[in-house]
Amino acid sequence: MIPRLVVASKNPDKIAEVEDILMGQGLVGELVRGLTWADVPETGATLEENALLKARAVSRETGLPALADDTGLEVVALGGRPGVYSARYAGEDATYADNVSKLLAEMAAAVDRRARFRTVVALVEPSGETWTAEGVLAGEITREPRGDGGFGYDPVFEVEGRTLAELTPEEKNRISHRARALRALAERLSKDSPDGGEPLSER
Ligand code: IMP
Repeated sequence: MIPRLVVASKNPDKIAEVEDILMGQGLVGELVRGLTWADVPETGATLEENALLKARAVSRETGLPALADDTGLEVVALGGRPGVYSARYAGEDATYADNVSKLLAEMAAAVDRRARFRTVVALVEPSGETWTAEGVLAGEITREPRGDGGFGYDPVFEVEGRTLAELTPEEKNRISHRARALRALAERLSKDSPDGGEPLSER
């Protein structure tokens, strides 16, 4: 159990999901809110590097264990793009709607609609110990947006006939890439030692 933890994100949609999942897990005693920190540029080449960059910087600034999540949408017909660039897919200041429009336009002629969300979470303790874990959700890109829930690419990402935006928050948080990554992290914390710095792919 981690007595006090800060979620290293400024995205309210993501914070809400991470907090709901964490509070259902019993992994964390108290989520510390209301702290501020300087923006952390996501300059890493991988989701894991970006999650670690964010968690390290926020743990250093707040003196608390910090948990960061970095997520990418990997589309088979696009060779795995937008991947680590999912937030900036339609440009530096792209909105969720801009990114979704660009995706549907790029996928207009694609027959193979398979895609997956991949989340890497990183937990960094003030002592410098780090833990990472990954969660994946496979699905398909729809031909048009559906649903009002969720955020980001949820309205065009379908799993078993429904987009993630058509699920309730509880339903999304049961199956999502983010929930899977946080479950894997909780499992690692309960039985493994911290990362030795080796890439996730080699564990
Ligand atoms: P980041 O992890 O904040 O860098 O997010 C990367 C991009 O993926 C952003 O455009 C997010 O809106 C989007 N994204 C992250 N998580 C989700 C999700 O659970 N559903 C849909 N889109 C997401």
